[in-house]
Amino acid sequence: MTMSQPTIDPLLVADAVAGLWQSPPVLPAKWLYDKRGSELFDEITRLPEYYPTRRETEILRRSAQDIVAQTNARTMIELGSGTSEKTRLLLAAFAARKTEFTYVPLDVSVEMLTLAADQVAVEFPEISVQPLHADFGDPDLELAEHPGPRMAIFLGGTIGNLDPTERAGFYRRIARALRPGDYFLLGADLIKDTGRLIAAYNDRAGVTADFNRNVIEVLRTGLDATGLYADDFDHIARWNPPEHRIEMWLRARRDIHARFGAIERSWELAKGAEILTEISTKFSLEKLHEELGTSGLQQLESWTDHADDFAVVLSQVA
Ligand SMILES: C[S@@+](CC[C@H](N)C(=O)[O-])C[C@H]1O[C@@H](n2cnc3c(N)ncnc32)[C@H](O)[C@@H]1O
Repeated sequence: MTMSQPTIDPLLVADAVAGLWQSPPVLPAKWLYDKRGSELFDEITRLPEYYPTRRETEILRRSAQDIVAQTNARTMIELGSGTSEKTRLLLAAFAARKTEFTYVPLDVSVEMLTLAADQVAVEFPEISVQPLHADFGDPDLELAEHPGPRMAIFLGGTIGNLDPTERAGFYRRIARALRPGDYFLLGADLIKDTGRLIAAYNDRAGVTADFNRNVIEVLRTGLDATGLYADDFDHIARWNPPEHRIEMWLRARRDIHARFGAIERSWELAKGAEILTEISTKFSLEKLHEELGTSGLQQLESWTDHADDFAVVLSQVA
């Protein structure tokens, strides 16, 4: 009897090969979001320390009607849609117009995408829900085939997971993938007290630590590894002042001697050495406006919550 081999994702292989042998080792944040990672992130959004989701929800509740009136969009494409939880505020406002409307949730996490799309389709039978399993970093991403005007939305502060070079490329690609006159709605976390920021990424219940460590499990199963265990790593959340960002690292608790069967390579990490697993950049409103403006996205309006913790910015493709 032959055992079936697990399928190996060539994109995980490419990112692991490009990142793990760097100094310090680094992995793109998207690998945090397998099925379990997506469920853990959903749990994070309800933690007392994790203010961004509550603040962005407050803004969307207040601005949804305004966004509908300003854009009159016929399609909403959500990049990194996750559970689509907050998005329901926008969907309800669009559905109330009683005109045809298409919602395209897009995510790398296929299980969460399918579940959320099914739930939204049941809750909003008048909306056409067309889930798209894709990477928002894909240079060939095509969004303009859906009825216009289109609005791409990028919520949850996910923009902060991209470094300045990646953000510039991302904004340019979005502007190119849409058409002139289409809209882009961005939710971004603002710079604030460092203690609150660190607490939001290092909660007392340890959910963010489990979320971070889960990427080791993604590597172990995805690359058929031996000698690699999530419990051998500590979760670190650290503020990087010059870059205005929280960084999530995994620090080895012991010397790691791992072997990746899928790529036939060994990987050594000394006790105390760290892997960078996610950055979460925080912005000033001025910085957001400047970056959008230089990428061909003209800002129409921005909203903040009552505590000025989070911002939602509506812009239009020039
Ligand atoms: C910080 S969560 C935000 C989820 C949701 N938008 C919210 O506001 O709560 C990031 C989401 O983006 C997805 N994601 C991360 N990298 C991605 C990529 N390169 N392409 C598509 N989706 C991605 C994750 O699976 C996850 O659902």
